[in-house]
Amino acid sequence: MGRWTQVSQGSADEFGKGQVSIQHKLNESGYFTDEALAELIDRYPREYYMLNSMTKQGEERVWRHGDKGDLKGADVLKAIHDGRVWMCLRRFDIVAPELQNIIDESFEELEAGNPELKTFKRDSSLLISSPNARVFYHTDIPYICLWHLRGKKRVWVYDAENKTHLPDQTLEGVILKETEEEVAYDEAWDREAQSVLLEPGQALSWKLNAPHRVDNVEGLNVSITTEFFTPAAQRKYGVYYTNGYMRRYMGWEPKSTNIDGLGAYAKCAAALGIKKLGLIKDQERKMMCSFTIDKDDLTQIVDIPANDQWEIKQA
Ligand SMILES: [Fe+2]
Repeated sequence: MGRWTQVSQGSADEFGKGQVSIQHKLNESGYFTDEALAELIDRYPREYYMLNSMTKQGEERVWRHGDKGDLKGADVLKAIHDGRVWMCLRRFDIVAPELQNIIDESFEELEAGNPELKTFKRDSSLLISSPNARVFYHTDIPYICLWHLRGKKRVWVYDAENKTHLPDQTLEGVILKETEEEVAYDEAWDREAQSVLLEPGQALSWKLNAPHRVDNVEGLNVSITTEFFTPAAQRKYGVYYTNGYMRRYMGWEPKSTNIDGLGAYAKCAAALGIKKLGLIKDQERKMMCSFTIDKDDLTQIVDIPANDQWEIKQA
């Protein structure tokens, strides 16, 4: 048993391959109490956090980016708890080395317990969200481990291999960054999905690129999301990147999504080449600041008129 992770025999073997639920003790660090979080928010520089909300515009729900202004961390927490916003704190390596350390140590424990497991390009962020917040159906490019810390949330995970739930072209589009990571979704798929109620002290990871969505259930929700790659994950990325490029720019219908064998390695090399040559331009979207939080009523956001919006620089 490790300092931070507690893995029953067998379950660690699936980590970095398939769906796995493990126990963790990250709350024992004391870093996720109201006081500690408020202090953390207070010292977060503008370029490393995101404050988001979603507004209905007609039938469409629109993602919005906001700014905490000169609100104290404790008030930001209250605004998240009582309202409908969420905050994402990134770049632990720069701002929160203490969080980077406990996550690194957790992964080292998992790898020590499973000689086959080799993770790299790990990238964590802390997510604080309202009791009723939702994350819509989407897929992520890397593997994900969700370290749940406070509140309750229900995570719905869909079959990664089901080409109806996640067509190859869609995954290629996500990997080529043509679209946001949100993809088409049908409620009927919930019947085949796995749904897991996450409580503090649980961590969940799932198959690479498995589509998922999240419904917060209760309380202020705090969790750390760690993205990571394994050698197999990187090969899959290369194969889909190259397949997507071929399909779009060379009028070629990819026949194989196999991530082993010579073809896969050739495609990974090709993906690197395509990236190096800059053949595909990442479609950067500007992040415009469109709201702040109402100081007198923390449950409300204040719209910033289109003319006064400014671009939020993220680093
Ligand atoms: Fe995700």
